Order: sequence, then C-alpha cells, then structure tokens
Amino acid sequence: MKKRLFSGIQPTGEVHIGNYLGAIKNWIRLLDQYDCIFSIVDYHAITVELDPREMPQNIMHVATVNIAAGLDPERSTLFLQSHVPEHTELAWIFNTVTPIGHLERMTQFKEKAQLYKHNINAGLFDYPVLQAADILLYKAEVVPVGEDQVQHIELSREISRKFNTRYGEVFPEPQELLSDAPRIMGLDAKNKMSKSLNNYIGLLESPEAIWKKLSVAVTDPARKKRSDPGTPEICNIYHLHRYFSSPKEIDWSAQGCRTAGIGCLECKKCLSDNIIKELTPIREKAKELFDNPDSVQDVLRRGAERCKEIAQETMKEVKSKMGLHLGLYTEPSKI
Ligand code: AMP
Ligand code: TRP
Repeated sequence: MKKRLFSGIQPTGEVHIGNYLGAIKNWIRLLDQYDCIFSIVDYHAITVELDPREMPQNIMHVATVNIAAGLDPERSTLFLQSHVPEHTELAWIFNTVTPIGHLERMTQFKEKAQLYKHNINAGLFDYPVLQAADILLYKAEVVPVGEDQVQHIELSREISRKFNTRYGEVFPEPQELLSDAPRIMGLDAKNKMSKSLNNYIGLLESPEAIWKKLSVAVTDPARKKRSDPGTPEICNIYHLHRYFSSPKEIDWSAQGCRTAGIGCLECKKCLSDNIIKELTPIREKAKELFDNPDSVQDVLRRGAERCKEIAQETMKEVKSKMGLHLGLYTEPSKI
C-alpha cells in the first residue's frame, strides 16, 4: 500500500510561481509515489478578512490552476476543506492537547499579526492546530510544503505525539517534504514571494504582464550601471533562472553578469521568455477549464466524498479512544 500524502493551499487570490516551485510542482512529481490528497483550505483562508463575494471565484481559481498545472484528478484527490466538517471537529479536540505556548512561538502567526493588526483573531492563532487536523485526519505521513510551513508540520508531530500519549496510538508523525525551491523570493528581492505582499508573478499572467513585472524587478543592488560587473549569487533574477532556464542559459547569465558582458534587462528578457514558455500551456489548459467549471466542481465533489469516508473512520477511532462514543459506536449493554 502506498503511503498517504497530504497538502493544502489557501484560496486567497492568485496562485504564483512561489507556490508553483515551492509546492505544486513537487506535488505533481509525487502523484504516483503516494496516495495523494490535496485540499483547498478555505477555513484557513478566512483567518484574514476576505470578501465573501469573491470566495467562490477564489476557490474555483485555485482548483482550476492546480489541475491545469498538472494535478491530475485521476491520480489524486482534490477537495474543499469546508466540505468535510470533521476537519474543524478534530481541530477542536486537538486544541485540548496543544499548549498555547507552542502557538505563541509560531512565526507565521507573529508575521500575520503584524500585517493584520486590526484583526488578530483566535482563528489566526489556532491556524496551525487546524492544519494538524487536516493532515492527521487522513493519517498522512508525508506533507510537501514550502519552507514557511516547516514549523507548522513540526507542531503537527507534537500534537500527534501528545494525543497518542494521552489516549493511545491513533496518529502517525507526519514529515515535511521540501522541494528544490523551498523559499522563492518576491520581485522586491526582500521578502518571500507572497500574495499578501503583491510581489509575485501569477501562474496565469499574460506574457506582457510577466515581462512588465520582471522588467522592473530588483536585481543585484550593487550593480548600478550596465558597465558594472555584478554578483549573480545575490541577484534574485539569477536565482529564478535556476528554476526556469537551461544549464547553458544559467551559465550565460552568471558569466555575463560577472563580466558585465550582459545587462540586467537582457538577462531578464531571457528569464521572462523561459517563464512564459513554461506557463503558457498551464494558462491555456486553465482557460479550457474555466470554460467548463462543472468539470472542476465535479472533481471537488468526488474528492469530498472520498475524504468524508476516511475522515469519518478516523473520527470514530478518535472518539472511541477518548470515551466519547456513548450511544454512537457501542451497544448500550457494553458501556
Ligand atoms: P499558501 O498560498 O500560503 O497556501 O501556500 C501554498 C504552498 O505554497 C505552501 O506549501 C507554501 O509553503 C508554498 N509557498 C508559498 N509561498 C512560497 C514561496 N515564496 N516559496 C516557496 N514556497 C512557497
Ligand atoms: N498553512 C498552509 C499554507 O499557508 C496551507 C495548509 C493548510 C496546509 N493545511 C495544510 C499545508 C496541511 C500542508 C498540510 O501554505
């Protein structure tokens, strides 16, 4: 039997090349090796304020882009978190074994609390507990994510251990799996690429928009003029070349930069062409799917059906271990 893999993505806006390189590409690579379950985590997304009118489009966008990028629904399960209420049920149970000190240490919570000062809600604080429930509800052992999520997966292991110690063995200890691009920097070259900082290239952006964004992206800050030699290792554009360009082009970019043989714009043009080449089939496939939203909704419906079955089995086991099975899974005479 294949080991189970679980990962999630929030429907909070455009999917970008950070998500793609850090997570989605890795998911696609692992489709045949594991029993893969992917969730669009809408209950996580609502820990920041979003316009409810945009939610349905956001969810369809993320589902569509993932399928278009290669997340084959015939070889994996894709579903919407809120379609399976057991996620929040298990999160509540996990709350009772999670020390708040652990949650206070979470970097993502601290960062988001800074970013959304006017809305530091309990859900934002509890976010990693819901994430642990996502993973453990399916007893997943492998969790492919970007580097920013490693701390949350560590906490999932801790929660699993705490539950098992208190109530008996139910859950595995999930391990994170990083891609070769665990942390893609944004076009500002200062922060991690992210939707909330608007420093990204979207997976469905037009060739013109991609070039427009790249042409003003930050490069090696010490290279002020075309005639200055640069240092590719500290240039974000060079790093992006490593994921989209051929070995020959990567070499050309590094050599040309060091010797001032090429200018930054030339270097960016080559990168832009290669990104466009990789993203064009995804954009075209997404367009087909946008014209046929029923097929995407059908994938989500089938995904939820499968996940509900697994989730209900796990909850049965959890409740039995916790003595919460009265009248549910036991004959009255056996109480
Ligand atoms: P999110 O959009 O925050 O739900 O993230 C979805 C997945 O993309 C998670 O596995 C993240 O760790 C990953 N991810 C997000 N931003 C980046 C980035 N800049 N570099 C690498 N991975 C990322
Ligand atoms: N917190 C993850 C992110 O921001 C999304 C997520 C929710 C997730 N539940 C998960 C990732 C479970 C992996 C496993 O990217």
